[in-house]
Amino acid sequence: MTQRLELAAPAKINLGLEILRRRPDGFHDLNTLFATLDFGDTIVLESQGDRAITCQVLGAELAADDSNLAVRAARALQGQFADAGGLAITIDKRIPMGAGLGGGSSDAAAVLMGAPLVWGIDVGAPLLRELALALGSDVPFFLMGGVALAGSRGERLERVDIDLPWHVLLVNPGIHVATPAAFASVGRTGERTASDLRAALGAGLADHTTLRTGLVNDFEEAVFAMYPELGHIKRHLYEAGAFFALMSGSGSTMFGLFETREDAERASAHFARYWTKVAAFGAAHSSASIASSIDRSE
Ligand code: C5P
Repeated sequence: MTQRLELAAPAKINLGLEILRRRPDGFHDLNTLFATLDFGDTIVLESQGDRAITCQVLGAELAADDSNLAVRAARALQGQFADAGGLAITIDKRIPMGAGLGGGSSDAAAVLMGAPLVWGIDVGAPLLRELALALGSDVPFFLMGGVALAGSRGERLERVDIDLPWHVLLVNPGIHVATPAAFASVGRTGERTASDLRAALGAGLADHTTLRTGLVNDFEEAVFAMYPELGHIKRHLYEAGAFFALMSGSGSTMFGLFETREDAERASAHFARYWTKVAAFGAAHSSASIASSIDRSE
């Protein structure tokens, strides 16, 4: 019997990203707000025999080998469970890659959540979180989705129960920013104090103008120095009517926030030479809805 499961792997943006300190292990402690969007990749998982893991990527040039984080997620699970089976992964890739939108991490988290259902094995939440962090700092967040405050490398997560009514315009100029190089160019030596991002977001719901001072991305200065076009896009987002604009992650995607979908779509016309997408904020994942989408066929 083949088990088939189709999963959404949403994109994320960072509503504020503070790099607090460099750690002895080479990673950085962060203070960031993650939020998933109602836009992303689609992943189809199908059981297959012999513990074989295969991966097909539609819509992008992405290696389907072990360098692919989704494949590594499946292998990490197999490494823990002798009764895990094989898996055929199909990724319909819509999230631009190396873009600060967490596409690879989201795909990996979808496999971590979905493959155990396809195989009929039970993986406890602590092990799932541990495997997620071993795959990448952003992967644990995608196990929960919605809006969350993140500390440490990104794995110390607190859900933020807030409905964000805004519309997001993503603008990606196709620049690939290497995250380690971006951290290096920020060159954090001392300590930076963490601000209260949750309070800043709450205040911004009542008064948008406070967001510009309350939510910053510490990568912007260094990454804009390397790629001035990104700073231009940010200014242009404001000129096009965004009430708030910021870089996501270490870039290169810039986003603007708008009151209405129409406003965001009108603004997107200003960025016709770039990849753009208008999205809304997404709901947190529910394991019940993931489990109910499984499809069993003979
Ligand atoms: O964890 P991930 O594989 O996504 O990290 C990629 C690189 O980004 C790390 O090797 C590290 O150089 C840098 N990084 C960091 N601090 C973090 C997350 C990532 O220094 N919190």
